[in-house]
Amino acid sequence: MRTLVSLSLAVCLGGCLDYVPYDPDTGKTFIALQKDFQNFKSWESYLVGSDAVAGTGGHPAGQRTVYINRLPPHGSTHFPVGTMIVKVRDEGPGLEPENHAMVKRGGDFNAKGAVGWEWFDIDFVDGDPEATVIWRGLTPPVGHGYRTMGGETATNATTGDCNSCHAAASDNDFVMDSHLVLKDL
Ligand code: HEC
Repeated sequence: MRTLVSLSLAVCLGGCLDYVPYDPDTGKTFIALQKDFQNFKSWESYLVGSDAVAGTGGHPAGQRTVYINRLPPHGSTHFPVGTMIVKVRDEGPGLEPENHAMVKRGGDFNAKGAVGWEWFDIDFVDGDPEATVIWRGLTPPVGHGYRTMGGETATNATTGDCNSCHAAASDNDFVMDSHLVLKDL
């Protein structure tokens, strides 16, 4: 485990914001590695819709699909540590689909936002079949907010901040999609 942790820390140097290392005392955190995302398109998935979501830096129009690595046990009040959810937004020909993810990392990670969740942007760079983690952490780095229609990216870190919108679903453990409402699962 120690090797894996130092490896992911080394990969993150220079790129990751507010990276909190694995806590061996609690043992209750899950640090997703790039390899954990590789086959996300084979996970349970839901077609979410294609209308734009209102709000500063929100989700512009484009077909959206949500993938989850495993559904929580019936009756759960939270998504278990280790839950990985990816949302793909496909604006159609000419633009690479945008893949955003949230992973239940646990502990007190992101304590002031979507508690326990880490945010990700993953990409298949230049058509590479391997998914690459572009950024991870508490908030998108400058220039990496949600892409607006036509491929522009938000120019500051506040626009498209993941925690702000997802706070609206704090009673569903910060998960917004209507297919993933805990009390209905
Ligand atoms: C303007 C509001 C808004 C912002 C900002 C936002 N989201 Fe979302 N997100 C939503 C909504 C609404 C859904 C439900 C699915 C849908 O309608 O697209 C959602 C769904 C998701 C999902 C699928 C799991 C779920 O909660 O349903 C992921 C993963 C996700 N968003 C990641 C992100 C990331 C990463 C960021 C920051 C880069 C972000 N979101 C910022 C509104 C937002």
